[in-house]
Amino acid sequence: MNTPIRSCLWCLHVLWTIANLLFAGCSGIKWLGLSKANLTWTASQDCRYAFKMRYLDAGQQHFCKRYFEAMPYVAKASREARIACQTQFYHHRWNCSSVELAPNYLNDLKQGTREQAFVAALSSAAVVHSLAKACAAGSLPNCNCGPMPNEPPSGDFKWGGCADDVSYGMKVSRLFTDVPYNFKYQASYQQKKKDRIVTWKKSRMARAELTLHNQLAGRRVVESSLTRHCKCHGVSGSCQIRTCWKSLPTMKEISEQLYRNFKRAVEVRRQGITNSFEPIYPLISHLTAETLLFSSKSPDHCTPDEKFGSLGTKNRICNATSSGPDNCGSMCCGRGHFSYMKRVPVSCNCKYIWCCRVECQSCQQWVHVTRCK
Ligand SMILES: *[C@@H]1O[C@H](CO)[C@@H](O)[C@H](O)[C@H]1NC(C)=O
Ligand SMILES: *[C@@H]1O[C@H](CO)[C@@H](O)[C@H](O)[C@H]1NC(C)=O
Ligand SMILES: *[C@@H]1O[C@H](CO)[C@@H](O)[C@H](O)[C@H]1NC(C)=O
Repeated sequence: MNTPIRSCLWCLHVLWTIANLLFAGCSGIKWLGLSKANLTWTASQDCRYAFKMRYLDAGQQHFCKRYFEAMPYVAKASREARIACQTQFYHHRWNCSSVELAPNYLNDLKQGTREQAFVAALSSAAVVHSLAKACAAGSLPNCNCGPMPNEPPSGDFKWGGCADDVSYGMKVSRLFTDVPYNFKYQASYQQKKKDRIVTWKKSRMARAELTLHNQLAGRRVVESSLTRHCKCHGVSGSCQIRTCWKSLPTMKEISEQLYRNFKRAVEVRRQGITNSFEPIYPLISHLTAETLLFSSKSPDHCTPDEKFGSLGTKNRICNATSSGPDNCGSMCCGRGHFSYMKRVPVSCNCKYIWCCRVECQSCQQWVHVTRCK
């Protein structure tokens, strides 16, 4: 091979690497990495640091500077989303441990899988939740209690108290979580910055559309989970006057709803070369605005697959009598299981100490542990 051709190949390789770096923000939900960054959000250097660590992409770094006061609550959302996901999938073969890899996700969280759909919806939902609660708590300068409902109070209560400001949460979550997938923004930003026109790889663009849909579905689940909570006023607990306001359930409850949507998620494929999707099985697919969509099947997670991000289930704890996903037959994929006894500390000899706490001793107790072969 002569030198000009070789150096041209080399420069193509460099361009390709640069293009990949520029668009590193396109796959996966990298800002969940904020949950492990120990940032105090006292100065805007924190935005730059998070960008340098690739937890935030360029658009999110702009957001970070502009909505700086919201960042502690975005970071809180990243922790809540991680914990909610790992709690929800604790007893499953895929146990959400791969979100810890942010921002360097593996294929399970970047190829348009059902798992990625769940994490995208959950994390966008967590931002709505965290911001709406922060507004109601009076922690943010630009928002407050949510609006009083339009519907008149029926019968025995009146509207009062402080509602969670879901519309502010929805707006901020959309701005923050959608920007890495917003091509127009990305393209104009890149053009301004490098004066270079970048064409997106079509398949990546389509995958971004899916993520945008799933994030919106997650936010809608939060919005529709807003329910009435009431408080009684009156002499010694009598309920002479009742005031009610709209507030959000816990992240755990939102995550349970999203898990039901995960189970019913619909597999889709691109319509020709467009960026829209159609269900693979249109007759049995029931689509709503809150349906999660995925375009790539996941393996069964039984055996390790490093590239995909499957750890396999060897040595995972299972339960021989459970009828859930932690049942040994299902968790161990038919490889069988083994049991042993283990000593664990438990609270014992608890005493009530006036007033007002309980003191316990720590005792050792033998428990059965069952694990997959
Ligand atoms: C996080 O930062 C705080 C204060 O800067 C420090 O006390 C704490 O040890 C840090 N934690 C970790 C895990 O680095
Ligand atoms: C998830 O599963 C892997 C092995 O499959 C295990 O190493 C890890 O501890 C599990 N994580 C949690 C949070 O249970
Ligand atoms: C196993 O599952 C059964 C049935 O769901 C439950 O009663 C039991 O507590 C579980 N055992 C452990 C060790 O979690």
